[in-house]
Amino acid sequence: MIFPEMSSDVQYFPNIQAMSQAVADRLLAIAEASVKRRSKFTLALSGGSTPRTLYECLARDPYASAMPWPHTHLFWGDERYVPADHPDSNFLMVSQALLAHIPIPALNVNRINTDLSSPEETVAAYERDLRRLFDIFGSLTPQNDFPVFDVILLGLGKDGHTASLFPNSPALQEMRRWVVATPVPELEPRVPRLTLTFPVINAARHVFFLVAGADKQPIVNIILHDPATAWSRYPAARVSPAGTLTWCLVKT
Ligand code: 6PG
Repeated sequence: MIFPEMSSDVQYFPNIQAMSQAVADRLLAIAEASVKRRSKFTLALSGGSTPRTLYECLARDPYASAMPWPHTHLFWGDERYVPADHPDSNFLMVSQALLAHIPIPALNVNRINTDLSSPEETVAAYERDLRRLFDIFGSLTPQNDFPVFDVILLGLGKDGHTASLFPNSPALQEMRRWVVATPVPELEPRVPRLTLTFPVINAARHVFFLVAGADKQPIVNIILHDPATAWSRYPAARVSPAGTLTWCLVKT
């Protein structure tokens, strides 16, 4: 396997506020272009703590009034298998930071429904929803096998995971399904996880990694400069989208 040096854009920011503002500006520009070209903007959100500041930024003007929310369709790149009102829920975090403050139609918010009786039933239902919507949107890869999101936001874990694609997980090899359940990880919160797969992530028009903290910088450096080593060690190294890849980094 040839490991080309990752062709990605790397941007450093002095703090998480500056990073969030810059990403919000990029999202607004992409959203406006997507709505102009395809009458919609599809955005898959990341969980964890880093993106919260971005979501709070999008919940305030100018973005709260400038973003084309009626034509924006929100999804989650991954979720914890906990109730929607659980403190570990990525949906709850986004609801508090963003959804409560913007005029987005409820039908445009596509949460991963963790009320269902098992992780497997949850991912099957989410994949059915995605297939229905992206068929209607007409945003599928040429072979019609994967959805093409306009933007997918990702984080990076201290073990090099992204979304809920953890090291040594069988999910790393999934090349057919759009969404899978992954076993309880070794990192908190230790609950079953639900995640988009790499074929879906890599079909996206734009992928942004939002990474804060000096402790993650060594992993980022290996991913960017030693892709052969990174590929087998860190799941995030397997993100290589058809579109653009932007690493947004806060070193402190
Ligand atoms: C999740 C996220 C996960 C996260 C990383 C980084 O559900 O936890 O999707 O992939 O992005 O673990 O998390 P922090 O931003 O909290 O460091």
